[in-house]
Amino acid sequence: MSSIILIGYMGCGKSTIGKRLSTKMNKPFIDTDQYIEEKQNCPISEIFNKHGEQFFRELETQCLKELIEKKCGYIVAVGGGLPMKEENRVLLKQLGTVIYLAASPQTIYKRVQNDTKRPLLQVKNPKERIMQMLNVRVPIYEESADILISVNNKKIRRIIREIEEEIALCSY
Ligand code: S3P
Repeated sequence: MSSIILIGYMGCGKSTIGKRLSTKMNKPFIDTDQYIEEKQNCPISEIFNKHGEQFFRELETQCLKELIEKKCGYIVAVGGGLPMKEENRVLLKQLGTVIYLAASPQTIYKRVQNDTKRPLLQVKNPKERIMQMLNVRVPIYEESADILISVNNKKIRRIIREIEEEIALCSY
């Protein structure tokens, strides 16, 4: 059974929108960060600290493989860096329809500026870090996605409606 996967940079709203979609579409919601934290019994920031980013990236790949094995239709919100690995992009396609929630650097900065839980943004100049990472990531997000939804200045209700419309078009 095919899943719906939300990708995009940190703070673009994957978890919030994913939970709403899950209720509306009556499909179970999975957040890969949460899945990994529960399995490891350890917060993401501590996994990064203790074992490094590479180890975390391997856990993300493992998580995708497990979700594919379960053959259940989920709404999945994936960590912002997950699609950066080619192997993961192949797995995402196997898992289902990929939706990129595109947010501008301004939208992202507003949402993550006081965050302490995302290890990659605990730097002196998070604005610059966001810009640098987006330069690398946006083309990959776009390449990975079946559907692109811009989330800037939109209410959640509208984003959900747009997603539903696009999914309906995809299934024709
Ligand atoms: C990361 C995004 C985070 C989390 C980790 C790394 C990234 O998830 O997986 O901190 O590389 O963009 P969210 O996108 O859910 O914040």
